[in-house]
Amino acid sequence: TDVVADTGDIEAIRRFAPQDATTNPSLILKAAQLPQYQALIQGVIESQGDGTRDAQWLQKTATKLAVEIGAEISKLVPGKVSTEVDARLSFNTEAMIAEGRYIAELYQEKGIAKDRLLIKIASTWEGIQAAAVLEKEGIECNLTLLFSLIQAAACAEADATLISPFVGRILDWHVARGAKPETANDDPGVQSVIAIYSYYKQHNYKTIVMGASFRNIGEIEALAGCDRLTISPALLNELSEDSQPLPRRLAADMDFAAHDKLDITES
Ligand code: E4P
Repeated sequence: TDVVADTGDIEAIRRFAPQDATTNPSLILKAAQLPQYQALIQGVIESQGDGTRDAQWLQKTATKLAVEIGAEISKLVPGKVSTEVDARLSFNTEAMIAEGRYIAELYQEKGIAKDRLLIKIASTWEGIQAAAVLEKEGIECNLTLLFSLIQAAACAEADATLISPFVGRILDWHVARGAKPETANDDPGVQSVIAIYSYYKQHNYKTIVMGASFRNIGEIEALAGCDRLTISPALLNELSEDSQPLPRRLAADMDFAAHDKLDITES
């Protein structure tokens, strides 16, 4: 299992030395508070000129900032950095395609090749159509906000490079309605990723499965063996009990690999 850091915090990435990194607008906003990014933010704002600071200005500035931070991260990870398309575009295929191309162009201007980045797009029907177009242009996509096997199957059929099935947000939904899973294996978010992983392997889909949105290390341990897992610095810290950097790969759990053999069509 490749370890991915779910953060824009450059110090955390230096410390945990992950294979890849994922960001989203709230992680970029959090990272933007860090002192080491202040000069970079100032540069982005100045490059945007003195025009009216309207919604469009803000969206462009936020995209540029996400790419600037992504470019810094890409100097530290050997693999890929995910940069997210503004979620407000999630039901507009053409707008997501345009934004995905724009993000890829901004990275290219900074000398970062297409194969070092993933455009993170919501797994709405419109988002999956946008990803299909971008993938054909060689712009790889990470389909996020994915909560179901149906979304996962549609992403694989669209030849998405990677999906991010969420764990914690599924658990949150059930907990808010009174559920109390006793073990990680009873966690509905964990069960969702296992079902998706199992279905993908049975159908030989090439799309990478990266579990995301974790609430505790029990969920992560239950999913060790999945293709990739993206993990917050707080949980990476808990996992590396002695605060040493984690290896870029977690050892695969044989029990999890056995899920390949499950036939969920019969269950
Ligand atoms: C990663 O791709 C997601 O943006 C992230 O894991 C979401 O986690 P959250 O549910 O804690 O916001």
